[in-house]
Amino acid sequence: MEISSLLPNLLCLFFFLHFASPVLPEYTRPPPRPLILRSHNQSDSHPQQVHISLAGKDYMRVSWITSDKKARSVVEYGTTPGKYGGAATGESTSYHYFFYSSGEIHHVKIGPLKPTTTYYYRCGGGGQEFSFRTPPSTFPVEFAVAGDLGQTEWTESTLAHVGARDYDVFLLPGDLSYADTQQPLWDSFGRLVEPYASTRPWMVTEGNHEIEIFPIIYPQGFKAYNARWVMPYQESKSTSNLYYSFDVAGVHVVMLGSYTDFDSNSDQYKWLQADLASVDRAKTPWIFALIHAPWYNSNSAHTGEGETMRVAMEDILYRARVDLVLAGHVHAYERFTRVYDNKADQCGPVHLTIGDGGNREGLALMFENPSPSISMFREASFGHGRLRVFNATHAHWSWHHNNDADSITADEIWLESLSSSSPCNDDATVTSNSPNDEL
Ligand SMILES: [Fe+2]
Repeated sequence: MEISSLLPNLLCLFFFLHFASPVLPEYTRPPPRPLILRSHNQSDSHPQQVHISLAGKDYMRVSWITSDKKARSVVEYGTTPGKYGGAATGESTSYHYFFYSSGEIHHVKIGPLKPTTTYYYRCGGGGQEFSFRTPPSTFPVEFAVAGDLGQTEWTESTLAHVGARDYDVFLLPGDLSYADTQQPLWDSFGRLVEPYASTRPWMVTEGNHEIEIFPIIYPQGFKAYNARWVMPYQESKSTSNLYYSFDVAGVHVVMLGSYTDFDSNSDQYKWLQADLASVDRAKTPWIFALIHAPWYNSNSAHTGEGETMRVAMEDILYRARVDLVLAGHVHAYERFTRVYDNKADQCGPVHLTIGDGGNREGLALMFENPSPSISMFREASFGHGRLRVFNATHAHWSWHHNNDADSITADEIWLESLSSSSPCNDDATVTSNSPNDEL
């Protein structure tokens, strides 16, 4: 066959490929797995949506909801099943959102508690017995991390993988229920996570899906989030539940708010300066920070959304030698090298995006190409992270993606604390032989 006879066909093929190819969207999210809705089928006084959170040194806050508005805010607890030597009373609240009325939301602080000890407890003076284990007072300590959780079958898969291996504290960098003003979904989320959140402290910060502002009627936002997920902001001298800090073992964790004021005149900015200035690195050699919208991101989703906050606050974290920044929002995983002001910097924090808990919106599949030189690993899969702090100088980070029923380690790295890194700390007295893959 002569080439001239093929030419029309080749031209047609060229024009088809060039002009008739489907235009790809900025990024494509695969069909998400279905929502899991957990209903409540027990009595009005039955404690539901039980979760716990750290509430200052040696104290734990127990939170739950009852349909019965007159149920007591009391927690009985002890170290032997069925025997409750301790009891504490707390407070309760409720809220309305248009035609929705919440149940009675109870918050009770219990303690002082011993470290690394299993406590058995029940809420409201009766009903089901729960148990939790307090974190250790010294290293090692292990955190499990997943953001943008939602309440789908992917969420259930991620939580099953989190629960399959022991850990001390769960960290959630924003976007919990994806209720998005549909308030019963907050209740369903609370029931879904109860088996995990009632046994280990859940420390959360807010994402954009917690805002739930409705102009004029609910202009402040965070109505459900602040009522249901009270965090230790008063215990850490913050005036807002939207940002706070806590210590666990030798780690100081700063939970920042991406959706409240953060400029240099803001309360959050001033609080962060004071909070980090008060850190004693001899007691807490490690500092981690959590935000929702990542400051560093090479995914096509949510490009630049964390930039204003980065410009405002990055210098404070850098000067305080924060070791690690964990973010959510982008539904994928990405690990950056140590970075400051968009450049690799051996004294800057490692930035990690881990907004891959399994929400209904699906994955953010498209990354910018070529990959920025400061981006070390990136993958659009659901999963969770593990941060095991072995001692004052070394920690191990690993990311485990969900391979349906299995949880597979896809990325891992050794970290050396900046407080022990002589180039970044003039007072450092500890040096170490670094493994090859260490940052
Ligand atoms: Fe988000």
